[in-house]
Amino acid sequence: MISLDSSNVVCDVLVIGSGIAGLSFALKIADSAQVVIITKKEKAESNTNYAQSGIAAVFSPSDSFEKHVKDTIDCGDGLSKRAIVETVVSEGPARIQELINLGVNFSKTATGTLDLGMEGGHSARRVVHAKDLTGREVEAALLNAAAKTESIKIFENQVAINLVVDRSRCLGCYALDTEKSLVKNFVAKITVLATGGIGRIYLHTTNPEIATGDGIAMAYRGGATVMNMEFTQFHPTYLFRPNEKSFLISEALRGEGATLQDQNGRQFMADYHPKKELAPRDVVARAIDQELKRSGDNHVLLDISSKNPQFVQTRFPGIYEKCLGYGIDITKDPIPVVPAAHYCCGGVKATIAGETDIRNLLVVGETACTGLHGANRLASNSLLEALVCSHRAAQKCVELLKKKPPLQRFAAWESGNAVDIDEAVVITQNRNEIRQLMWNYVGIVRSDKRLNRAKKRIELLKEEINQYYWDFIITAKLIELRNMALVAKLIIDSAIARKESRGIHFSLDYPQKSPSGRDTLLRESPPMRP
Ligand code: FAD
Ligand code: SIN
Repeated sequence: MISLDSSNVVCDVLVIGSGIAGLSFALKIADSAQVVIITKKEKAESNTNYAQSGIAAVFSPSDSFEKHVKDTIDCGDGLSKRAIVETVVSEGPARIQELINLGVNFSKTATGTLDLGMEGGHSARRVVHAKDLTGREVEAALLNAAAKTESIKIFENQVAINLVVDRSRCLGCYALDTEKSLVKNFVAKITVLATGGIGRIYLHTTNPEIATGDGIAMAYRGGATVMNMEFTQFHPTYLFRPNEKSFLISEALRGEGATLQDQNGRQFMADYHPKKELAPRDVVARAIDQELKRSGDNHVLLDISSKNPQFVQTRFPGIYEKCLGYGIDITKDPIPVVPAAHYCCGGVKATIAGETDIRNLLVVGETACTGLHGANRLASNSLLEALVCSHRAAQKCVELLKKKPPLQRFAAWESGNAVDIDEAVVITQNRNEIRQLMWNYVGIVRSDKRLNRAKKRIELLKEEINQYYWDFIITAKLIELRNMALVAKLIIDSAIARKESRGIHFSLDYPQKSPSGRDTLLRESPPMRP
């Protein structure tokens, strides 16, 4: 830290977000800079912490970089960028070795080699995992390493509100300290967005509450280009428990032989794809959606009871315990599941080293769109991308720091005539409305009619929410709501612009794929009023 008073924090590098992307970036730059990490809630709370199946990388002698590249590109359905895919895939094993060196305890086989899991779309076993609690294990190791690094300081309960961008150069951000109810200036030479995904914009999601698309919204408002936002990935198997906290049932269960069936016990995946349960995720999610529409049921069943109970309990302890808590013994009973919004394949357009249209702003992890995932992400390629791109971004950051970017202080946050919100219920109401409309109109299967309905509604909601933003004293919920509305609009606009079906974007009005694939790029010009 260079200096600190009650409302100004000045540092070399500001990292917004403490998931795998933010933490691994911070650890890599810590020898060259004083780093401040700000994070919305408690430091471990992130999508990373809930990741189950693992990190895809080539370790098996029967696997190869070429196969992993091909699987990634096939899944990306014409939009993955080969050069990016090749770099990410080939650098994966080295980045995983670094995690092992940090103390991450990945599962091993009886002979001491890494135990490799299998998932849909992969042509070989290549998912490095820590049982079914991979994210928790990785997050804990990264946080532990950060805690031991003097040049890294983590501030919890700081919700970034806006980037401060002056003539296309990022100077830092404003963030609300939710414990002190105070808006602080975080001033930095380089700012790194690592704020994760957008799942909470949808009614049903595997993502924790932090995933409200804040980084994408902040970057867009600051003038950055966002890319391919229509590609929201739906995970096929989310535990069906209405009114309970979200919980994923990992694809790794299907990798180990679990089957999908309707409530009459009919296994249906053979009707949809030759690879059945191991078809790419979009195919499985659409198949379940179609089965549910056909039967009128509210869930289908995932069954792993044919496997040895001892194996199931040791391979999937997290899922076993969670389901048992709901009275489901997965060694005997099928698990009720439905699809849910899971991952944002789009994001802030970035190079593999995180560079954006805004100078001195880097973006890493799920917030970034590097061109790796294209129109659909291959399972377990997200943690991989975060590791490789954070490493590359840290190298880029060293270069940028050598150019001596200025530390430029900016004006304190002004609340103007804002007053305390009198009826917080309007925030909850609008939040619910966005989540419901995205689920109903911008979900797994789309149509022009549904998207246009969504567009009309979101425009009205955005206007209403922007008014609250200027009228009321800022709160964390209001910051998130404003971002959710903007990101929802970006998804809707991108989905309307894509007049074809490709990857995870499926439209009833354009069921065919166009001969050539194009990225959807959106940019506000001039940048929006912050
Ligand atoms: P995150 O880990 O989500 O971290 C984002 C950070 O930003 C958090 O610390 C958050 O608090 C902070 N933040 C957000 N907004 C603000 C703000 N306004 N101000 C300050 N801080 C903010 N991928 C795989 O490759 N393999 C898997 O097995 C796998 N399993 C998954 C299971 C689940 C249940 C989920 C939800 C996702 C899974 N994914 C998996 C996807 C993967 O976990 C995420 O894409 C990845 O962890 C994203 O990492 P990240 O660092 O970019 O973001
Ligand atoms: C899962 O465990 O099924 C999630 C894997 C992923 O999202 O990559």
